[in-house]
Amino acid sequence: MRRIERDEIVPVTIELNGKRMVGNAQPRTLLSDFLRQTLGATGTHVGCEHGVCGCCTVMIDGIAQRSCLTLAVQADGRRVETVESLADDEGRLDALQRAFNRHHALQCGFCTPGILMSFTDYLRRNPDPAEQEVREVLGGHICRCTGYSGLVAAIMDAAREMRGEAGPEEETDAA
Ligand code: FES
Ligand code: FES
Repeated sequence: MRRIERDEIVPVTIELNGKRMVGNAQPRTLLSDFLRQTLGATGTHVGCEHGVCGCCTVMIDGIAQRSCLTLAVQADGRRVETVESLADDEGRLDALQRAFNRHHALQCGFCTPGILMSFTDYLRRNPDPAEQEVREVLGGHICRCTGYSGLVAAIMDAAREMRGEAGPEEETDAA
């Protein structure tokens, strides 16, 4: 691979939510900044910018990763999915999003895109998680609002619905 000079601007091509997108980036440009500022995909949030809060989580080639710990050039040629990919073309929310809505699993919503992307990946690989496992994955995300109970209820409920075991639970009041 050719060495990229420090201040060089290079084209980065990614498949973003199924669409080929090209933008310019410096070698030091974070993927989170590239998504938001260059490609206008502002659904991905940025909080701590050092891998702690989890709100910048996206999926790269199907695996949830921190976009603030990934350089844009590292994503070149790869498939990136963000929270904008979850609803369908008519704006209908997916099962996980609907469960968040039912269980009041968000308030300000700042942490929400990252948690949705983490669990989109996680539930694909672990469709029948124990509640404790869900809590452990949530340990990689900071939510200042919900107290986490609504998040756990929503994720467990969405997993059940995705497995086809039961219809969605009734709305709960996590407050
Ligand atoms: S902004 Fe990436 S983990 Fe906090
Ligand atoms: S809903 Fe506000 S930080 Fe989680």
